[in-house]
Order: sequence, then C-alpha cells, then structure tokens
Amino acid sequence: MMESVGMYGLCGCAAKSKMKCDSRWEIPASETAPTSAYSSPARSLGDTGITPLSPSHIVNDADPNVSEQQTFLVVVAIDFGTTSSGYAYSFTKEPECIHVMRRWEGGDPGVSNQKTPTTILLTPERKFHSFGYAARDFYHDLDPSEAKQWLYLERFKMRLHTTGDLTMDTDLTAANGKKVKALEIFAYALQYFKEQALKELSDQAGSEFENSDVRWVITVPAIWKQPAKQFMRQAAYQAGLASPENSEQLIIALEPEAASIYCRKLRLHQMIELSSKAAVNGYSSSDTVGAGFAQGDKYVVVDSGGGTVDLTVHQIRLPEGHLKELYKATGGPYGSLGVDYEFEKLLCKIFGEDFIEQFKIKRPAAWVDLMIAFESRKRAAAPDRTNPLNITLPFSFIDYYKKFRGHSVEHALRKSNVDFVKWSSQGMLRMSPDAMNALFKPTIDSIIEHLRDLFQKPEVSTVKFLFLVGGFAEAPLLQQAVQAAFGDKCRIIIPQDVGLTILKGAVLFGLDPAVIKVRRSPLTYGVGVLNRYVEGKHPPEKLLVKDGTRWCTDVFDKFISADQSVALGELVKRSYTPAKPSQLVIVINIYSSEHDDVSFITDPGVKKCGTLRLDLTGTSGMAVPARREIQTLMQFGDTEIKATAVDIATSKSVKLMDYVCETEQESEVPRLGTLWEKKGDSSRINSFVRPCFTHMLPKVSQFILKGA
Ligand SMILES: Nc1ncnc2c1ncn2[C@@H]1O[C@H](COP(=O)(O)OP(=O)(O)OP(=O)(O)O)[C@@H](O)[C@H]1O
Ligand SMILES: [Mg+2]
Repeated sequence: MMESVGMYGLCGCAAKSKMKCDSRWEIPASETAPTSAYSSPARSLGDTGITPLSPSHIVNDADPNVSEQQTFLVVVAIDFGTTSSGYAYSFTKEPECIHVMRRWEGGDPGVSNQKTPTTILLTPERKFHSFGYAARDFYHDLDPSEAKQWLYLERFKMRLHTTGDLTMDTDLTAANGKKVKALEIFAYALQYFKEQALKELSDQAGSEFENSDVRWVITVPAIWKQPAKQFMRQAAYQAGLASPENSEQLIIALEPEAASIYCRKLRLHQMIELSSKAAVNGYSSSDTVGAGFAQGDKYVVVDSGGGTVDLTVHQIRLPEGHLKELYKATGGPYGSLGVDYEFEKLLCKIFGEDFIEQFKIKRPAAWVDLMIAFESRKRAAAPDRTNPLNITLPFSFIDYYKKFRGHSVEHALRKSNVDFVKWSSQGMLRMSPDAMNALFKPTIDSIIEHLRDLFQKPEVSTVKFLFLVGGFAEAPLLQQAVQAAFGDKCRIIIPQDVGLTILKGAVLFGLDPAVIKVRRSPLTYGVGVLNRYVEGKHPPEKLLVKDGTRWCTDVFDKFISADQSVALGELVKRSYTPAKPSQLVIVINIYSSEHDDVSFITDPGVKKCGTLRLDLTGTSGMAVPARREIQTLMQFGDTEIKATAVDIATSKSVKLMDYVCETEQESEVPRLGTLWEKKGDSSRINSFVRPCFTHMLPKVSQFILKGA
C-alpha cells in the first residue's frame, strides 16, 4: 500500500511507469530508506511542490454553522442503528415538538421496538426490494431454493467500525454468502428513509415536500473514525439526501452527544432514577435536569446500543445550557449483540460449530427465526428471575440437525456437557436464569471495565449524573451492574423513552448544531513534513540531503493532540504556494493516530484519514502571481474534521468531505511534488517544529515510491 504525505503537486496524470523510468527520480543508495517500497524520498526534492506563504494560526471565526446557515423548513434525523433504525423530525417553526416516525408495519412476538430492524433485501438482480420488517418477512417467506438467490443483510453497520481499511469499495456479505458493496447498501437504506420521511412530511403538510426543505442529520457512534463518518456522508450523497455542493444540508451527529443534548432537557417525570437516594451530589428535584444543573455540572452519557457502547462526558454551561466535552469520546464494540454472539457460541458448543455454520448458510430464514426467538427471551432476562427461559427451536433446525448428524437435537443436548440448558418436551431449549445471565456477563463486564477506566480520569471523577441510554440500557442486568458499580459515585438515570433518546437528541442537534461549544479531539492529527535534520535528534534513516541541505523526512507534524480541547469554529489556517507553475493538482493528506507521542508518519498506528486534492488548472488568460496562494483551513471542533483548500487565483475550493475514503486504486495515482524551500529563511523552517496549530510544512518525498 502506498502512503503519501503532506502536500504536493501532481505531475499531471503521469503514469507510475513513466516516473519509474525518469532518471531524475533516482537517488543515491545512502538516502534510500530500508524498505524498497519506501526507497526514494529525495527524488522529488527540488521539483514541483508548494511552499508555505504564511505562518499558520488559529482563527476563532464566527461559528461556521451559523455563518453558513441556510433556511430549512424541517430537520429530519436518521438513527441508523446496528440492529434497529428510525427517523424523527421537527419543523423549525415548532422546534419544541419532535415527531417520531409513524409506526411501521410488522413486529416480533415478545419484542416491542420503537425503531425498525436494520435489515435490507435485494432481488437476485441486486435491486433494492425492501427494508425492515418487510424485508425480513418477505425473505422469510421465500422458497428456500429461491431465497439463495436473494441478498439479505443485517447487522452490517458494524463493518464500518471494524474495517480498518474502509474504502468506497469495501464489501459486505449477504446471508447467502454473496458479496455486495457496502456503499450501495448504506445508500439504499438511506434512500429508503429519505422516501419514507418525505412521504410522511408531505402527508402531514398536505402538499409535496421537497428534499431541499430538509436539513438531514445522520447519527453515528462517537468512536467512529473519520473514514467511517465520511463513508456515511458519501452514502447519503449517493442516496440524494444532500450533495457535495450542498454539504451543509447534511449534518453528522454523534450518538452519545445527541443523547446528551436530549438528556439535559429531561423533566423529572421523564426519567427513571436507579439510585434510591433522593439527593446525591447535591442534586434536588426541579423542573428539568438542565434546570437542576448548576453551572459547571458534569455528567456521563453511556449509549449502549446493539453494536457499540460509546460514552461522552459533558459539562453544562449555564445560562444557555451549552455543552462542553470534558473528555474525548470513548467506547467499544460492547453492544447487546455481544449477548447474541455468546448464545451462538453456546449453540456451537452443544451442536458443533460445523453444524451451526452450515445451518446458517443452508437455512438462513430459520436462523433468523431462531435469533428472533432468542431476542424475546434475552429481553426477559433479569437479575431476580428464578424461572427458566424457553427458546423455541425452529422445526427446520431440528430437521436439519438430524440429517446432518444422524441423531436428534435431544441427543446432542444430553451428550453435551452444558448442563444448564435442557431440552423441553415441547421442542424448546430450556435455559436456566443463570445460563442466560452468563451470556450477558462478558459484554456487561466490558462495559463496567470501560466505565471504571473512564472514572479514573480526573475530568470524570467528579461527575454527578450518569445517563444510561440506547436499547441495551433497557436490560435490567446492565442497569443493575452499572448501579452496583457506580451508584455511590453518581446518580444513575435512565430516560423513559430510552430507545429514542438518540433520535430525539439528533433532531435537537439539527435545530441548533452550535449547542456543543467545545469538543475534545478523539485522535492526534497532523501532516508529514520535512524538518531540518538535527544530528543526534533525528534517526539516520530519515536523513535526506538536497542541494547541500540536510532534511529529516517523514516528520509527523502534529497540529492537534488526542483529547485536546477545541472550540467550535476554531480553525487552523495556512497558505501555500505551488512550487512549479505547471503543477496541476495539490494533494494534502491528513494523518491520525490514537497516540499522542507520534514522531513520524511511519510510526505504528499512524493512518491516513483524509485527502484534499485541489485542481490548479483553469488559469489560462489570468494573471497568476508568481507565488500563487493556496489557503487551507482546518477545523476540528465539529463532529467531522472539516478541511478546505482554496486557490486564491481561481477561487476554486475543495472540501475534505468531497473527497472521501479513497480506494487503494485512487491513492496509488503517482504524484510528485516537494517542499519549496524558502531561500535564506532557515529560522522559518525551524519554527515549524512548534507544537499544535503552529505549522504545516508540506513534505512530499516518500509517497512516490511507496508501493511503486
Ligand atoms: N431488555 C433488553 N435486554 C437486552 N438487550 C436489549 C433489551 N432491549 C433492547 N435490547 C438490545 O438493544 C439493541 C438495540 O438497541 P439500539 O436500538 O439502541 O441499538 P442500535 O441503535 O441498533 O445499535 P448501535 O447504536 O450500536 O448502532 C438490540 O441489540 C437489543 O437486543
Ligand atoms: Mg444506536
């Protein structure tokens, strides 16, 4: 894989092979980095590139959300969940009134859902067929031989969290084992929501509702990385919710933040208080939690959904009730699906992994049935439960097992050494309450452990409230575990409509995106730069010599650290100039890392997380100054990183959001360019090593040969 860094010009559309045979690109062996894929950073030096025109600085501009304000009639928020999804909306004229989507068709025995299952069905021709219960029921009723041709997908959102090298080409696997592009599936789902919502709005208004009247909000886990957020945005563009030209029409909201915005407005009768103590930490009853907050009160919101659990720590600033993030968003894949996986593991233990694998592929509809049956029993689990929980095994399971193994499921249960699961005479698995509780344990333990770590942080240790939200927050076992572990530290509160908290909060966020004034950067961000080589300080393998000047390559030039506070609207601004007038494109790559102590872009854990590519053409007939100015603006205080580059000569601009998750293919387009050394101004070069927000020196060297 090729890694490119910093900013550089593009040598037209020169093919890689052309660059390879160009003798200018050869460098002495002594300057070659250890790996062949990384052999020639120096080759680009002195050729095309860009140079800084001004020292960078932080600009506390007016809130960009406000300055770019557009008039929308309605805000529609989509909570695209791992297991269930939904939308809610509010007319901007009536912001206090949040409407949750009208009830959808279908439902499951023993399970009440306010959202609809995140399941999608495509025809054998790969055309969208249906979503939610409709998809599941239709798929279920298909003849098994026919069902093999259809593409049925569920739980696919987790792929965006777990795929490290997510690209626009990432695949998902349907129930029949066939691959389908993830982008296509997300776009289909969002398009479906768009159509449903616009239909509902039109019905309400009594006239056709235009998409341009809507501000869309899509919620994503706070712990998602930038590529996953960009992926969602791209899918929304494909679905026609917004477009790159009108990117402000779509806002990405972070799930626990949305919940927090809602929770701070809760009235007392809308909450369930787990703590028996009437007043912990000086809190006494009042109209709303928000009104009960004193200036500076801190709280944690734990969003426990199907796939992920993510947490945010906020401080409320009165009188406006604005929020300040106190600690970077944290969390992990500890959603309620963990319980389902434990159940699957238990089935594997009893019936054999080979059988379960085959059964899932050969009888996918029956597998769906079995998991629906499990879901209703899972929700009946409680700490004080004494009677067993029965899970009906589909006939197809019993039948297929007999064919597969040559003996009955009853026999398998008797033979297995799982003695807390029995076979009931009515064809059901009978689980003791302890057996069910054991399925919850690993997931709940992970959540408690995560919370314990979080409470160790000084910023968090004094929180007064802990809001437990998301569907999994309804689980009495989770509620009890959180209360037992943290009930003496803070008040544990569960909103009444716990499953809709995120959705409603996302609507509020769409109405006023500036409510969160300060965020913590989840990661360390920077670009690759050249620094003056300092003997003894820089490693020899990073030495690069050009025209007698000794450079250290690959320096990760940090412009923000993980957990650093950034105010909304805070911008890093810097100007560059292309070194070569014939340069056609400038490329800025942004890198991120979980760690704070990053020295080089080649350090473990450093990943490219965004690219800006600015077209420099279109100046024919124009008087372009010798030092053509390319201004870059970067913003980290929002839910997404926003970066813009503007070519002052042509006023052409490009936003990070428009160029998302490049495929490997695209990123291998050979580029060349380099630092343009400002003659006689070495002090300036040295000044680029200052921490945070002070510098971004373009560096272009090693991208050329990585993977070339
Ligand atoms: N009483 C309960 N006990 C255990 N789990 C429950 C209970 N009620 C709901 N859940 C689980 O909550 C999950 C749904 O919650 P929610 O709708 O918040 O998740 P999601 O939004 O789909 O997922 P994510 O936010 O992680 O993408 C399901 O996995 C469901 O099994
Ligand atoms: Mg959710």
